[in-house]
Amino acid sequence: MVARNCLLGLTIVALLGCDLSRVAPPPEAVFAPDERIDDLVRQARRPVVEMVTERFGTPNRLVAWEALPVDYGVLEGRVVEAYPETDGTCWRLKVELDAVPEFPKDWPAPLLQGVAVAFLSFGGKPVSAGGLVDEGENRVGLTVQRFDPGTGVLELAQRLGSPPSAGDRLRLVGHKLQRGRVAYMRHCVHCHGVAGDGNGPTAPYLNPRPRDYRRGIFKFTSTGPNERPTRDDLKRTIRQGIPGTYMPSFFLLDDGDVEAIVEYVRFLAMRGEFERRLVDELILDYSTEAVAQRVDAGEERSDILDELETFLRDELPETAAFEVERIANAWRRVERPEALVVPKTPRTPDTFESRARGRKLFLSKTLKCVDCHGPTGRGDGPMTEDYQLNTATNEYYPFPGLVDAWGHPIRPRNLTRGIYRGGRRPLDIYRRIYVGIKGTPMPSSAAALNEEQIWDLVNYVLSIPYETADTRRQLDAVAAQLTASEK
Ligand code: HEC
Ligand code: HEC
Repeated sequence: MVARNCLLGLTIVALLGCDLSRVAPPPEAVFAPDERIDDLVRQARRPVVEMVTERFGTPNRLVAWEALPVDYGVLEGRVVEAYPETDGTCWRLKVELDAVPEFPKDWPAPLLQGVAVAFLSFGGKPVSAGGLVDEGENRVGLTVQRFDPGTGVLELAQRLGSPPSAGDRLRLVGHKLQRGRVAYMRHCVHCHGVAGDGNGPTAPYLNPRPRDYRRGIFKFTSTGPNERPTRDDLKRTIRQGIPGTYMPSFFLLDDGDVEAIVEYVRFLAMRGEFERRLVDELILDYSTEAVAQRVDAGEERSDILDELETFLRDELPETAAFEVERIANAWRRVERPEALVVPKTPRTPDTFESRARGRKLFLSKTLKCVDCHGPTGRGDGPMTEDYQLNTATNEYYPFPGLVDAWGHPIRPRNLTRGIYRGGRRPLDIYRRIYVGIKGTPMPSSAAALNEEQIWDLVNYVLSIPYETADTRRQLDAVAAQLTASEK
């Protein structure tokens, strides 16, 4: 086993390697940093950026960090033969992989190029978890330079002092993440941005904005309140798109591409969450503003910076380890079947009585659906006109109406149109009402309602597009009768 905290670098464009040594390396693409990093004092900025980069890499040189529940794509195999290159320090290996993944015929990148190589045994001896080391005791970061699936010949992009022996086992890590990255850069980046921050070049013109993955908040999931989406949720969003928004449906995309993109989106989300938590740790005490205030209050600037240095050295690594565990658990947990919101009772038949009960709930003072969606469901309730308090700054937003978790204005859905962004199946609407819509003011009604009541609401909501003033009157009359007969 490779150690849990093992970091394996995989490159998208090959690094300086054996016969590439004359080619200049590509310019380093960067993940745009969290906006708040600029607010930190200079001495705090670098360590955060370095910590994130060490564990997640750069867009051209991704890192596969085994602490995270990301399916990077792992292939194993054994060395059949090693041939030396002319200078005797580079090796070309003939390998037999246990399985070779299928790529689409028009795949734009050389197969497996840049994928990380870890020897599990070398020269007939098992390799320790840290991997191969050079004379200076540094871990050798090996990547594939070229792989020919026809002949099984694999070229390494780095020099090796001595050759591996026939029978040595090796593991290739990262082909799936790389594939996801390539497909993401093709299909998603112009809206969702290189870092998945929702800030691609097209983003400013869109409403709602493309999702910023870095909070781990996703709206349309099959999981409970505050939980991450499952892989299937992400797959569904990509396949079906989000109707009524600019999120397109990628219906024709190759299955392997969709699966790889899902891993890449999860990777970007985890990276963003990790970065965000590091900034959270520092922003209160070590923003430029906080330090200036502390100096005004009589502290010495040099003392504050000494304290920061100690914190960065002694406490931040521990906090980082804790946070990554938390993030990993949150993403791991939702893949268990019990994490899904699945009603135990089947849908109540969609009768007039059920809709009448649903409408009564919809209008009820306790649930407040009407405050946002309005009495006829047009999305014009009174809350769309009130000014909301920004709890982070304790000031009112400068525009009236509701605000989402990313600070953008948001409108309640017009339910008369019958367009449902999270899916139109009754189970989808059930989940929206039970869980709410994460990152938006649409609340969870799980605590207030039992399953039958939610199904009544589902039946009513799905009937709103066909409603007239007449049907509304009839439903209200039936509801009044039902209440009277209960008494
Ligand atoms: C033309 C712009 C555009 C493109 C291209 C695009 N998206 Fe989106 N995406 C959006 C918008 C806008 C939203 C937000 C919709 C909302 O909030 O209801 C979104 C939301 C999402 C969500 C969040 C779903 C949720 O439950 O919160 C995911 C995941 C996502 N997109 C993935 C992708 C992936 C992967 C690709 C590429 C295969 C992609 N998007 C391409 C605009 C785009
Ligand atoms: C505080 C305001 C608020 C309240 C209260 C509220 N909603 Fe919403 N609702 C929203 C917003 C905002 C959206 C749109 C969120 C988005 O998709 O970005 C929404 C969306 C929806 C959707 C659309 C789901 C989809 O897939 O497109 C349904 C259905 C819905 N609400 C039903 C209800 C019901 C039923 C209630 C009462 C139990 C309710 N809402 C209470 C604000 C609210």
